Amino acid sequence: MSECYEATGGPVGGCGWRSVSGGRLVLQSASKLNIFLEVLGRREDGYHELDTVMVRTRFCDTLTLIPDFSGAVRLRFSDSTPASLRHAVPLDGRNLILRAAEQLRGLGASGCGAEIILHKCIPPESGLGGGSGNAAAALLGCRQIWNLSVSDAQLHEMAAGLGSDINFLLSGARAAICRGRGEQIQPLQFSGSLFFVAVRPGRGNSTPEVFRRTSAGTDLRTSAHVAQCLTDGRMDLLESCIFNRLTDAAATMNAEMADLQHRFQHAAGRPAFMSGSGSTVFVVCRSAREAREVQRTAERKLRVVAWLLEV
Ligand code: C5P
Repeated sequence: MSECYEATGGPVGGCGWRSVSGGRLVLQSASKLNIFLEVLGRREDGYHELDTVMVRTRFCDTLTLIPDFSGAVRLRFSDSTPASLRHAVPLDGRNLILRAAEQLRGLGASGCGAEIILHKCIPPESGLGGGSGNAAAALLGCRQIWNLSVSDAQLHEMAAGLGSDINFLLSGARAAICRGRGEQIQPLQFSGSLFFVAVRPGRGNSTPEVFRRTSAGTDLRTSAHVAQCLTDGRMDLLESCIFNRLTDAAATMNAEMADLQHRFQHAAGRPAFMSGSGSTVFVVCRSAREAREVQRTAERKLRVVAWLLEV
């Protein structure tokens, strides 16, 4: 394990970016999977103390940022964003992209504006951190197009204020143990790729509701085993260490998810796990080829879209 840094420190770089003509910036906004999540206790501020391992997947949204020095920040969907996702994602002040941009404008960039085009692929309320990745991309992107001298540490501080999963996606780490509310990141180094196949029922889960219904474990588990598997390259042992304390509460709230998890396990012939507060459930595969087979089987037998998530 390498360096450990708090939400207010550490480098950033979670999003691949490339400039296109006319000052337009295109950023990939990554998703995450929780391959371990233990709830250590409820805190005075209402949040829960976590011990979780997140991995950053290549399943991404895309943000296009076009500077507009008239001062307004406007957010819209790309023309090809599916209608099913448009319904579930607000484009007003509730959207983390606009809140992230506002935070940066508050640091002396009040005259700066932008048109931000969101190409949405990652469904909300799925436990994949789509909105958090969008916030991380917006922080990085707005700093870039407005040419602000805001440090990485300041970006991390803003990220922690906006949500618990944003620091990990901002950090650029492929994997990390995340503690506190989830905003304290300890990156994990590992080589090779990881392959997961994930499915999601029609309905998402409300994160606050899932946490409210979860009580801290009495038989607390530790992320150390999952972290060890990654750093030792023992991907064959990973499946036996994956755990998510939020699963039982989420399953009682979302019977469709519990049923899909059960049928996915049967179809894939291996255990399926929930990411974050759900409702995405995933299985571990040993190779890209095996993952493609599991993906095809899941789509045929479960009649849902299955994603191949590579880390
Ligand atoms: O931080 P974020 O906005 O993603 O959290 C959404 C909600 O999930 C919080 O308002 C809180 O109810 C719950 N939560 C929690 N403990 C955490 C993270 C989130 O209770 N560590």
